[in-house]
Amino acid sequence: TSSGLPDQFGRVASDMRLSLTDKCNLRCTYCMPEDGLEWLKKDKLLNAAEIVRLVGLGVNKLGVRELRLTGGEPLVRADLVEIIAALRRNHPELPISLTTNGVGLAKKARALADAGLTRLNVSMDTLHHDAFLQLTRRPFLDQVLAGIEAAAAAGLHPIKVNAVLLRGINDRHGAELLAWCLERGYELRFIEQMPLDADHGWTREGMITAAEIRELLSSDFELAPDPRSRDGAPAERFEVRRPGSAELLGTVGIIASVTEPFCSDCRRTRITAEGKVMSCLFSRTEVDLLPLLRAGSAQSDDDAVVSRWQDAMWAKPKAHGMGHPGLGDADFVQPERSMS
Ligand code: GTP
Ligand code: 5AD
Ligand code: SF4
Repeated sequence: TSSGLPDQFGRVASDMRLSLTDKCNLRCTYCMPEDGLEWLKKDKLLNAAEIVRLVGLGVNKLGVRELRLTGGEPLVRADLVEIIAALRRNHPELPISLTTNGVGLAKKARALADAGLTRLNVSMDTLHHDAFLQLTRRPFLDQVLAGIEAAAAAGLHPIKVNAVLLRGINDRHGAELLAWCLERGYELRFIEQMPLDADHGWTREGMITAAEIRELLSSDFELAPDPRSRDGAPAERFEVRRPGSAELLGTVGIIASVTEPFCSDCRRTRITAEGKVMSCLFSRTEVDLLPLLRAGSAQSDDDAVVSRWQDAMWAKPKAHGMGHPGLGDADFVQPERSMS
């Protein structure tokens, strides 16, 4: 009966992003308030069996071809390794990746790789302890560094590092962070700050734009467009060389969600930690699958989940409304939900 997750604008979602928890052990200023959020009670979260079932429906009935596990911070979930192992048993070929802040990763990297994780992205905005503390409000930079190293040692390649630059805090650290990643073979991606902070403190003027990031890197590096196809990825990739040198050092990505949006190529379907479909990071409607999942596990219950998920994606908005041609900032309303 089902045929994928299309929307009314011709896009088809095949990339599933599943949040495993709303909790986090950092308090990044561009995401969380100082005191954290009111964490969900455990029985409100999808449990491991429900996660495995939902991914199964996505892959077997709805054309999901790639899975990314996110949070909050997914490593705070005690059953993360078991979840990955169960998903891997059911889906031997599915790419399964993880987006983590790296805290606690040093201890878990080997087990994650053994369980069948394909690769991971680690958020690390600076190599400076003082700036890290200011940005994340927690003194855990050394743990993150150890985590990245452990992930590389466990063979979880390619490792991507995500960095958000904030004016006056770490905007001068971009070139240094890039050099550090290039030396180690990690792919660094700079991310434009989006209005997804719980404190609603984002301003367009305060944000460091993709153009500014390229400018900030230009005294140390020469960037040339990467000839490989972007293929729906959020990051625009550049080849990196030292000025005047022909030697290719690696690549850097820039995710310009605000100034150069990529909504028309978006292939993502998101499920929140409590089992709600969000057709877009910025959508203000959420469609709850949990009651259907908990109603039973007969074929008819599966069909009901599949069809509600499809309805939710059909209504995916055309674009987020920040800076699109024909859609001014006035059309943009910051969603209630923060990034986490
Ligand atoms: P890969 O490219 O597969 O490695 O993953 P990814 O970049 O999609 O995942 P990651 O969780 O590392 O996300 C990095 C950044 O991409 C986020 O901080 C966002 O800025 C951006 N991003 C991810 N998904 C979306 C989306 O649906 N819409 C927009 N506008 N930006 C997104
Ligand atoms: N804008 C841009 N990126 C954000 N992240 C969290 N909040 C924001 C925001 N407001 C990033 C994290 C992580 C990724 C999943 O999202 O740094 O790398
Ligand atoms: Fe936690 Fe990630 Fe939000 Fe930082 S950006 S507070 S690491 S969920």
